[in-house]
Amino acid sequence: MMLKIPSSMISIGVMANICVQTLAFTPNLSKPIFQGLGQHNYGDDMTATALFAKIGVIFGTSTGSTETVASLIAEEFGPDAEGPLDIDDLAESSDSLRGAFDKYDALIVGTPTWNTGADTERSGTSWDEIYYGNMQDLNLSGKKVGVFGLGDQISYGENYADASGELHDVFQTLGCQMMGYTSQDGYEHEASKAIRGDLFCGLLCDEVNQDDLTASRVEKWVDQLKQEGILDGASVAIREEIPSSVDVDSVTPEIPSDGMRALEEENAKLRAMLEDNSKLLDRVLKQESDGISIGQADFTPHYNANTKVTMWTSSDGRSCYYSNGSPSSP
Ligand SMILES: Cc1cc2nc3c(=O)[nH]c(=O)nc-3n(C[C@H](O)[C@H](O)[C@H](O)COP(=O)(O)O)c2cc1C
Repeated sequence: MMLKIPSSMISIGVMANICVQTLAFTPNLSKPIFQGLGQHNYGDDMTATALFAKIGVIFGTSTGSTETVASLIAEEFGPDAEGPLDIDDLAESSDSLRGAFDKYDALIVGTPTWNTGADTERSGTSWDEIYYGNMQDLNLSGKKVGVFGLGDQISYGENYADASGELHDVFQTLGCQMMGYTSQDGYEHEASKAIRGDLFCGLLCDEVNQDDLTASRVEKWVDQLKQEGILDGASVAIREEIPSSVDVDSVTPEIPSDGMRALEEENAKLRAMLEDNSKLLDRVLKQESDGISIGQADFTPHYNANTKVTMWTSSDGRSCYYSNGSPSSP
């Protein structure tokens, strides 16, 4: 039996797309957000349009431990993250590097530490070749970045995970918003170039001596990053996964009528949200054409001195946009 999904439901993805694109090209509205729209599952093969932030998980490795931890981190984030991606592949050309780094709103980057004799470029991976070369041409300003590193805190206790500190500093110097600093408690190192203040510059793992702690450390760190807002304020990714028709026999024996009702209710909610945003856009455009500054209307500014960007949130908390500079900037 074929169940046709009403075209009005499919059009949600298209409407969202149009709305997002309209907003994206509106002056002063560079990053529209539809917060609160997540992924909606109605069965094995029916996933409604999902709007969510995107994180890229990127690692370097020599013997595989950093890749293992990168996979755990990507799994822990679930659909919000893509990867893990090997920096050896991305570093092959400046285009592939730029493509990968531009694609994501936030990055999780990881490295092992090798080559104790050197002060810099000691990851033993392609990170070393791009830090002071191709990476310097990337525009990463304001991107949220969390660093993780692998090392051996017993055999290399004086240099535990040193390369993570360099990874951190390169991204920070490029203007990234660094997050995910962690406590040194529970480690036995004597020194590390990955310490900033009293904290490690990110998540440090030790697959040689403390592999039993890795999974819980990853879980806790991903939670911490979410609390620090790694998923907030990201641009919108749209997945159009609603099939135009569903062969019910191939999905489940039958789609219960309350499943259809849930779809219809969700559809109505999404439509209302998009209409709200569309009205909001009209209002903002009118205010702009009337010469009224957005900041004087229903939006509250939140200035981030680190990124020098102001986030404006609507009074109902359902919409926001960004502008460069402080609220008082012309
Ligand atoms: C020759 C050699 C040098 C190393 N140097 C360091 C070091 O300076 N600091 C550190 O914390 N770990 C050091 N390690 C340990 C590695 O960083 C650790 O085994 C890590 O898990 C390797 O990650 P990977 O499998 O992703 O390459 C070294 C290991 C070897 C074999």
